[in-house]
This record gives sequence, structure tokens and C-alpha cells, in this order.
Amino acid sequence: MDKIVIDGGVPLRGTVAASGAKNAALPTLAAALLAEGEHVVRNVPNLADVRTMGRLLGSMECAFERDPEGHVARIRVPRAITPEAPYELVKTMRAAVVVLGPLVARWGKARVSLPGGCAIGARPIDQHLKGLAALGAKITLEHGYVDVEVPGGHLKGSVFTFDMQTVTGTENVMMAATLAEGRTVLRNCAREPEVLDLAVALNRMGARIAGAGTDELRIDGVTSLRPLDHDVIPDRIEAGTFLVAGALPGNDVTVMGCAADHLEALIEKLRAVGATVTAVDGGVRVVGDGRPRPTDVRTQPHPGFPTDMQAQMMVLLALADGSSVVTETVFENRYMHVQELQRLGADITVDGKTAIVRGVPALSGAPVMASDLRASAALVLAGLAAQGTTEVQRVYHLDRGYERIEAKLAPLGARIKRVKT
Ligand code: EPZ
Repeated sequence: MDKIVIDGGVPLRGTVAASGAKNAALPTLAAALLAEGEHVVRNVPNLADVRTMGRLLGSMECAFERDPEGHVARIRVPRAITPEAPYELVKTMRAAVVVLGPLVARWGKARVSLPGGCAIGARPIDQHLKGLAALGAKITLEHGYVDVEVPGGHLKGSVFTFDMQTVTGTENVMMAATLAEGRTVLRNCAREPEVLDLAVALNRMGARIAGAGTDELRIDGVTSLRPLDHDVIPDRIEAGTFLVAGALPGNDVTVMGCAADHLEALIEKLRAVGATVTAVDGGVRVVGDGRPRPTDVRTQPHPGFPTDMQAQMMVLLALADGSSVVTETVFENRYMHVQELQRLGADITVDGKTAIVRGVPALSGAPVMASDLRASAALVLAGLAAQGTTEVQRVYHLDRGYERIEAKLAPLGARIKRVKT
């Protein structure tokens, strides 16, 4: 099991490029199940989760290939497949649940393992199932699996309102509705850029989706779709992580290939702590001018402050000249990084959804343990800022969402390496 070792306290300077978005690539790869034929998806990040999605499609008799860099995926979907997602694969990546909508829409049946527990929260999929049921699917839960049958084999358009904005829930039901008979209207939808990017990919396949990026989607079903041919958007969370690195005291980092309009809420907070943020051609530059100022952060669905940036932002606030209040409203257990940041000398207390972050002048390096994807990114940022050596263990969490992060940070001057243990 690898660990990342960082000798911190070195100023970071230079330019880093964002990879394709994990949370756009995964549902887009699953969308291939909606059409027979040869699909191509470009700007796919080379990540463990993408490999898992490839294995999942492979287990359904689809051929999944990637170019040597791993950034172009080709999927061959045959006329007949086995519409099943086994526990062995779903347990390693909850996002695998996004195959459910395409399978039900295309084959009128599916058997998909329930994702099970997650470090950051309960994360049920009740809204996914309610949405599919609204389109006429019959759903039973048995032996840890969701079994879905569609009487008559075809979903029927309908009106459905989500109880809360759910990203993969919106993606699943939107994909299902593309092949339903008639019009579907989905309300209280997620508005994340990844949902919009998926809708763009689906419309390129011949779907008729209107309203993507807003909280109401109108989908006129079609009888068939053509293969995917799509470029995935940049990863705003990976880019955001590097922007926070740039806002740490004394740093100057430019992130290329990221879309500033996907990161407005984060950029607003980086400016609030006193960093200088400028849009440059094809990217965003952040300069960390001295000690950050405190600011309060409240996570919300897009376009609010992304929960996937909460841990990383907390590192910046941990070094602020004063106290900040962080409120996590999306997931009920997303403060696993706090105890590890305390090991580096941060002064943070958690009470339910709220964390009080009292800024300290400096952090000091120590061995720490990653608990989930974004927590591990925060520990890497903290290690970069801390005096001395930090060892981040369980970096398999990191590899699920960050493509070779140490190779991207080293050219900025970071003293960071991966060590096999
Ligand atoms: C997506 O997860 C992302 N994953 C997550 O990123 C991200 O944190 C999350 O959206 C929120 O932005 C992917 O896109 C693959 P939700 P998702 O459904 O879709 C509750 C990362 O770090 N809910 O929008 O699973 C749920 O429990 C990952 O890359 C229900 O109660 O999140 C949560 O409290 C982590 N019932 C809230 O809604 C449902 O049926 C939002 O979850 C669905 C969701």
C-alpha cells in the first residue's frame, strides 16, 4: 500500500493542468449502455474509478479499451448484454449505480447491487428508485440487490420531483427517460456541471433533453440513440484543489484547462480569505498573499459551495488569522479529516454539521491517515503547508479521484513523493 511523503513549507510556483472530470466521465461511460455500437469518450481521467467502470462494462460483455495514456475510452456495446452490476464491483465504487438508468431504459430490466455504506454518509439511493418507479419500473430489493422489471419492456414518460437535489439520482433518471415513451419532466434536479455535461453527451447521441443545468429537465423520449462521441469537461474539484494550493501563504499557482464559471463559489471564498484570483487564458491563477483571513463556508448543491471542496478549504482556514465557521449541509459525516488535521496542529472543533476552525500560525508535519477521497486531498495540501515531514497513508483513496497528484505537484516545487510500503 502506497503512502505519500511530503517535506512541507516550500513555496509552490507554476502551472498545472486539470484532468478530465471523474464525476462527468463515470456517468458518461455508463451512458454507452443506452446504444449498441462503438462509443468514444475523450479527456477521460486515468483513475482507479474509471478502470472500475471499465471492468463493470466488461462484466456486461461490453468491450472497454483505453489509449496508452488512458484518456480516450472506446466502448463496444453488443446487441445483447447481461444487465447486472455485481456487488464485487459496486462495493468498490458507489458511482457504479449510474448503470441502473441506462440498463432499465434499454433492456427493460436490471439487477444492480445496492452500494452499501460510505465513510461520508448513509448515501441511500431511494430517489433513484422512486424516479425510475415514476417512469413505470417495478422495483424489488432482495439479497442486497435492486431488481428492476419494466412491464411491457418500455418506460413511460412522467413527472417526478426529487425530494432533494441528487447528482447521480438526476443522472440516472435523466438517462432512463431518454428512451421512455413520451415526455418526462424532472423537478428539483441537480444543477452540477457534470449533470449538464452528461446531458450534452446524451443530446449528441440523439436524446432530446431540455433544461440541463437548471432544476427542471424536460426529456422527450426517443426510440433509439446513436453511439457516444464526447469530450468530458475538466475536473473542477481537482482544479479547485490546486487553486486552494495556490492560495496557501506564499504560493502562486495557475491551473490550466479549468473552467472558472464552474468554480465561482470557491473563487469567491478564495478572494474572501485574501488570495488574488485572476482568470488567465485557458485557466485561473491564484496567488496566496500572506496569512489567509477567516471566512465562513457553507456547503450546498451547485451553484453553492461544493461539499467536495470542504476539506481542502478547511486547510486554508486552519492557517487563517482568526476563526471561521464551516457548515457541511450535504453529507452527514464529512469531517473525518478533522482529527488528522489536528494531528498536524490545527485547532478545529466539530459539533454536528458545524466545525469551528480557529486559525493557527503554522502546521507541523506528522504521519496521517486518509479516510476518503477529498479528505486525502486535504491532507496532501496540509502536508505541503506544514513545516517538516508529513506522511499520508491509505492513498488508494486519493488515486480514485486524482491522476498522479505527486507528479502534478512536483513541478510546482513541492517536495512530494510516493513510497511503496
Ligand atoms: C455525487 O455523489 C458525487 N459523486 C460526489 O462526489 C459529490 O460529493 C456529491 O454528488 C454531491 O455533490 C459522483 O458524481 C460520482 P447526491 P452522489 O446524490 O450523487 C442524499 C467525490 O468526492 N440522497 O447528490 O452520490 C445523499 O445522502 C464524490 O468525487 C438521498 O438521501 O450525491 C446526500 O446527503 C463524493 N437519497 C445528498 O442527497 C438519494 O436517493 C446529496 O447526495 C440520493 C441522495
